[in-house]
Amino acid sequence: MELIKKGAEAELYRIMYNGRPAVLKRRVPKRYRVPELDEHIRKTRTRREARLLERARRVGVLTPEVLSVDDKRMEIVLEFVEGERAKEYLLRTRDVGLMRKIGEMVARLHENNIIHGDLTTSNIILSPKGIYFLDFGLGAVSDSVEDKAVDLVCFEKSFIATHSDMAEGGWNAFREGYSAYSEADTVWKRVEQVKRRARYL
Ligand SMILES: Nc1ncnc2c1ncn2[C@@H]1O[C@H](COP(=O)(O)OP(=O)(O)O)[C@@H](O)[C@H]1O
Ligand SMILES: [Mg+2]
Repeated sequence: MELIKKGAEAELYRIMYNGRPAVLKRRVPKRYRVPELDEHIRKTRTRREARLLERARRVGVLTPEVLSVDDKRMEIVLEFVEGERAKEYLLRTRDVGLMRKIGEMVARLHENNIIHGDLTTSNIILSPKGIYFLDFGLGAVSDSVEDKAVDLVCFEKSFIATHSDMAEGGWNAFREGYSAYSEADTVWKRVEQVKRRARYL
């Protein structure tokens, strides 16, 4: 198995699964957590990731197909998505047009009460078939304006840190795309409140 990435939370391997190129994502134990709690967290995130990937696809947001879920081994197997991550593409091109399209897709997730939980340009792959979203293990199904606002505040923070060279234009384009969501104005108002609160903490 060829290791793709050994992250803080998971190890990813490139594998073949029933003759198809695939990715095995295994959530590894964290030694600083109490073992029972650690197992609970990994199990929850494994199941949640599979569930949300499928839910997102049903509402028309591209995600890798879930080929298998094993919540004892804490593994999921995903279709391998060929392409470049949005992170590297944007660092190379500063293409604000992509940020608008990403905004439209996040609008669609939120319109359908899907919170991604870890929006970053590393969790988006540009394939010839379109824009794929990955890494839903911290996501949720929620109709709360607060949850949607927090999703955006986190994305903005990571976007500005990674793409400071296009932060303003990129984020404005994202906002334009996100306005496809009927409740976008309400969410942006809450974004301001969340940020004000965060400054007091
Ligand atoms: N289905 C997939 N197809 C292709 N590459 C993937 C796939 N899933 C993950 N990757 C690659 O592995 C990296 C880490 O995967 P991710 O699910 O985001 O795990 P982590 O929780 O460690 O961030 C991604 O940024 C991407 O480059
Ligand atoms: Mg990730």
